[in-house]
This record gives sequence, C-alpha cells and structure tokens, in this order.
Amino acid sequence: MTKIRAAVFPVAGRGTRFLPATKASPKEMLPIVDKPLIQYAVEEALEAGATKLVFVTGASKRSIEDHFDVDVELERALESGGKTDLLGLVKGIVPAGVDCIYIRQGVPLGLGHAVLCARGAVGAEPFFVHLADDLIYSQTACLEQMRAHYERHGCSVLGVEPVPHSQTGSYGIVAVGESREGASPVSRIVEKPAPEDAPSDLAVVGRYILTPAIFDKLASTERGAGDEIQLTDAIARLLDDETVHAFQFLGKRYDCGSKLGYLRATVEYGLRHPELGAGFRDYLASLRD
Ligand code: UTP
Repeated sequence: MTKIRAAVFPVAGRGTRFLPATKASPKEMLPIVDKPLIQYAVEEALEAGATKLVFVTGASKRSIEDHFDVDVELERALESGGKTDLLGLVKGIVPAGVDCIYIRQGVPLGLGHAVLCARGAVGAEPFFVHLADDLIYSQTACLEQMRAHYERHGCSVLGVEPVPHSQTGSYGIVAVGESREGASPVSRIVEKPAPEDAPSDLAVVGRYILTPAIFDKLASTERGAGDEIQLTDAIARLLDDETVHAFQFLGKRYDCGSKLGYLRATVEYGLRHPELGAGFRDYLASLRD
C-alpha cells in the first residue's frame, strides 16, 4: 500500500459568498477564534501523516504563503520581548521536514481544475484533498480517520455526511451500496442535484483521498455544473474503473464558506477554547437576560 504523503489544498476560489471580506483577502485566512481556517486544515493533514502540503492558489492568496513562511522579524521581536508563548504559536506551524508547495491556478475553472493543477507536485501517488472552508471538529482528525480506512481498503475515499434533503443542490451527492465500518461503496455520484433528482441525502464534504488515476479523468473532463471542471464529474468517471468508498466520519462539520456556518464555528470553538471558553459562555448567557 502506497503511503499518502501529499495533501492538496485548493484555495483558489473567489469566496463570493463572503464578499466583501474576501475581496482582497482569501476566505481561508478568516480566523476561527485565533487561527485561520487554512491552519486548521494544515494541522489536520499533518495529523494524518502528510509531509507535502500543496496549495493551489489564485488571486489575492499571498497571505496564505506568508502565513506558513518564517517571519524572522516577528520572531525576533517576540523573543526580545520575552513573549515565549506567542513565539511558540508562530514558530511551529509547519514542522521541519514538511514541504510547502504553491501552485497558481491562473483561471478559476473549478475545483476539479484546481486539483488537476496539483498533478506535477503530487506525482503518481494517492493523495488527500482538503477544503479548508469545511471545518470538522473531531477527536481523531477526519483525514486521519479516512487514512486508516484507506489503509484497510486501498481505494479512493470520500468524506460524507447526511444533509437535509432540501440542501442536496449545494453538494456532490452519492448513491451507495451496503454500509460496512461506516463506509459504503459508491455506485453513483452527482454534482449539486435538485432534491427531486438526488440519489440520496449523503453529501460529499471537503475531504477526499484520491488515487492518482483521478488525474487522467480530470484532464479529460469537460466543464459541467456552473461551467466549471467538477471534481465530482471526474470521480463519477473513476467509478467506471475503480472502487470508491463513501466514508461517514465521526465529527461535527461547520460550513465556514457560508456566513451562518462561520458564525456557528466561531461561537462553538470560542466556547471550547481553554482560555476564553468560560468567560465567553458567561457573556452569551448574559445576552439572554
Ligand atoms: P466553492 O464552491 O466553495 O467556491 O469552492 P468558492 O469560490 O471558494 O466560494 P463561493 O461559492 O464563491 O463563496 C470549493 C473549494 O474549491 C476551491 C475553493 O477555494 C474551495 O476550497 N476552488 C474552487 C478552487 O481552488 N478553484 C476554483 O476554480 C474553484
């Protein structure tokens, strides 16, 4: 079994649902309490064993590169001010031995196209895809749960969860066979079906393990929904040749690409925060008075 080394972070979307906040700064840099979404994403991939972080970036994404780079000036200032706690927070984000690779997606032709842009950096190996705006809170990192499943079965794995039937039009939706160990073989996958056409209520959220065969499929996938090259369409074609599993992870997902999901995450991560939680809980309670 080939070990998964590369994690791809497609961060080239325009984040139009979050305008004007995302006009000049990427939605992946929006903080949940004190960490940007993209840092939660990187930490999850590191927990699952990734050693190559591939960011597919677009317009106004420079701050992501800066965030994972060393800031010598800041480190010096914190050091000389004796702020060792803060120094630890900014220093150890990407551990030694982990490579960050930045690839520009010149034109935002869709998630499938963004993943295809990572082909050269990933090579002919299975890899993770992580969409940072789907934040998942769990005991064991979602990608790590999926990696363990991949190691048992050796096939592509899609992170899925049930969604309200009325919302199928916002997701890739899978039809599945019989479920075992929280996972089921995918028999069909459709991008953003209207509720009346949806084969189930099981939605693909922003976590994937894909075999390298997906790249050839992506390279020959025509533009689909929204006139974009859809990862879902390429996975549908992968199903002709390979088994793909839908995996129901344990954890709570927050759709931080939407304003309401982002607010929910902010409130719940705030309540869980070791230093802020108690005070924040009191504050929220005071709003009810
Ligand atoms: P979304 O569908 O959330 O689109 O993309 P978006 O542009 O980020 O946000 P809205 O809908 O306009 O508010 C899903 C993921 O695919 C990436 C996005 O960055 C996000 O992580 N993506 C999308 C790309 O990297 N390139 C693209 O061309 C499109």
